[in-house]
Amino acid sequence: MQELIDRIAAEARPRAAEGKVADYIPALARVDPGRFALVLRSADGQEWVAGEADAPFSIQSISKLFTLALAMEWLEPDGPDGLWSRVGREPSGMRFNSLIQLETEAGIPRNPFINAGAIVVTDALMTHRWNLETAFRAQMRLLAGNPELHYDAEVAASERMHGDLNRAIAYVLRAYGNLRQDPQAVTDTYFRACSLAISARDLARAAGFLVSPQGEGACAAGHHARWLRAIMRTCGLYDQSGEFAFRVGLPGKSGVGGGIVAVQPPGMSAALPQGFVAVAWSPPLDRFGNSVAAQAALEALAGALE
Ligand code: DON
Repeated sequence: MQELIDRIAAEARPRAAEGKVADYIPALARVDPGRFALVLRSADGQEWVAGEADAPFSIQSISKLFTLALAMEWLEPDGPDGLWSRVGREPSGMRFNSLIQLETEAGIPRNPFINAGAIVVTDALMTHRWNLETAFRAQMRLLAGNPELHYDAEVAASERMHGDLNRAIAYVLRAYGNLRQDPQAVTDTYFRACSLAISARDLARAAGFLVSPQGEGACAAGHHARWLRAIMRTCGLYDQSGEFAFRVGLPGKSGVGGGIVAVQPPGMSAALPQGFVAVAWSPPLDRFGNSVAAQAALEALAGALE
């Protein structure tokens, strides 16, 4: 298995040259485009890694997966004012920070993985528990088994400074009656979650509950993991989700920090029948905001582990 990981890493890594590092904030634009990591972790805890598996990067939109998991755990998503009456479960087919659809669809975001949807999830969580920033970090530390995980203050501050579009989304949500808390407080918390610094190895561990639902931490119920995987499959890579499903075929979630996490539930792979989590990281992105080399690595890995 280690040979396979090394070979895939060596082949995927140069593909970074086809992409461009996120530059909407200086803290991300400065990242070295040559950095790369690939981690494969089986559901029973074996790990194979290549590249900089322990180097922290910005989790960005991959945080949306974990805030949604918290919402599944803490809230009653099916209740009368539940999450599923406030956010949909369909792919958006639009850029992750688009405002257009939100207006034409009366303030109900298409899904929890576009920015508008994640802002509603954040609002629902904040309404439930006032100190979400601390609770979210505690949850990530628990799931990753790393008590050192922290928010990157520079990334969070610079997201906040350049966050007009996200604040606009929050105000549109409020205008349509789909935001309970102060829009700026909600977007500040959302930026904070996006700024979490995490390594590929820790991310693979943190996502383990998606393939072994009885594992430690929150999100223990099997149907939560099944719901989360379904939304990853249909919406995890924004308006490139269909292409990722075609090429990689695994539920996944990407972030503009260049990370992508993909999961295979038990019983689907002959090589690893217990199921696995794979994380690839390479900062340069394609025009959809998804890492070029990380997608290439995951495509090769999913093919090899069929
Ligand atoms: O809110 C934003 O736009 C960024 N902090 C996160 C977006 C993101 O990661 C989209 N991912 N592909």
